[in-house]
Amino acid sequence: MFLSDSKTHDHKLVAHKGLNLINEIHDPDDVDQICNLEIRDSDTFVVTYPKSGTIWMQQILLMFKVKGDVTAINELGHISNAEVIPWIELLGNREAFISAPTPRQRVTHLQYQFLPPALSQKIGKVIYVARNPKDVLVSYFHFHKIANMLETPKSFEDFFEKFLRGEVFGSSWFEHIKTWYSHKDEMNMLFITYEEMIKDLKSAVEKISLFLGQELTDEQLANVVKHSTFKNMKKIPQASYEQVPENLLNHHLGTFMRKGTIGDWKNHFTVAESERFDEVFLREMKDFPFLFTWDIKDFK
Ligand code: PPS
Repeated sequence: MFLSDSKTHDHKLVAHKGLNLINEIHDPDDVDQICNLEIRDSDTFVVTYPKSGTIWMQQILLMFKVKGDVTAINELGHISNAEVIPWIELLGNREAFISAPTPRQRVTHLQYQFLPPALSQKIGKVIYVARNPKDVLVSYFHFHKIANMLETPKSFEDFFEKFLRGEVFGSSWFEHIKTWYSHKDEMNMLFITYEEMIKDLKSAVEKISLFLGQELTDEQLANVVKHSTFKNMKKIPQASYEQVPENLLNHHLGTFMRKGTIGDWKNHFTVAESERFDEVFLREMKDFPFLFTWDIKDFK
């Protein structure tokens, strides 16, 4: 495989019905068909804005599937957890969903209006994972440097502005969380935050297990928790995405499992940027009844 120290090519963003998709990774016509999918009660969608804990939740669901037995992961013969719990919006994945056996579990970064309306009639389950947007921005900035399908940022300042304008795949963080959250009560939705998972992973895993109706022993649950920590996920190639092909991720430029903490934005934002972000956040989120945790120290 050809390895280079720079990214091989950049894909372009394609604006589609208020959502920026990625050319060659998504097909707008195919994405439009997702809302016509028939949903079963046993289906689960993990919904995230990018960099909010998608692969973390993939690992937890996968560990439920193998009842906490991490050795069983190798027997699945996959190179990344995305093969077992794929993004519904990636090219080809919608078709595969139709014929997939029950229970079907998928992740998605799509906005609310692209998912089947059946979800709003309490058919199927939705787990929405939210993360404080300053850390999302930083994580996304670093991801843009390694992801071949995304434009390499010119600078942090430039990416900061793009993020606030929603000129990234997934568009506006604010829109994403507000629209999904506003439909929360119509759905079987578990709304959970990256920060609460960091604070107390055991309680978070128990909550998710209860929501999905998993039947696991205490020992199996403890193993799910054990193999879903940042440290242990890093040791599992399928969970840490280290085997994702170089044409998608340039592993020489960074890792998917980067820092896995709260408050790294403090190492990136200037005081002026932080104040500007706070202003936008207060304006956009004034009616949103939710407090985020912005610093790991807030837990101590
Ligand atoms: S993506 O590309 O949208 O699917 O990315 P996503 O998986 O949503 O988010 C990646 C960030 O999640 C962190 N991560 C974790 N943090 C703590 N504990 C665990 N177990 C864990 N697994 C993944 C990952 O490190 C990325 O965050 P940053 O801040 O970049 O480290």
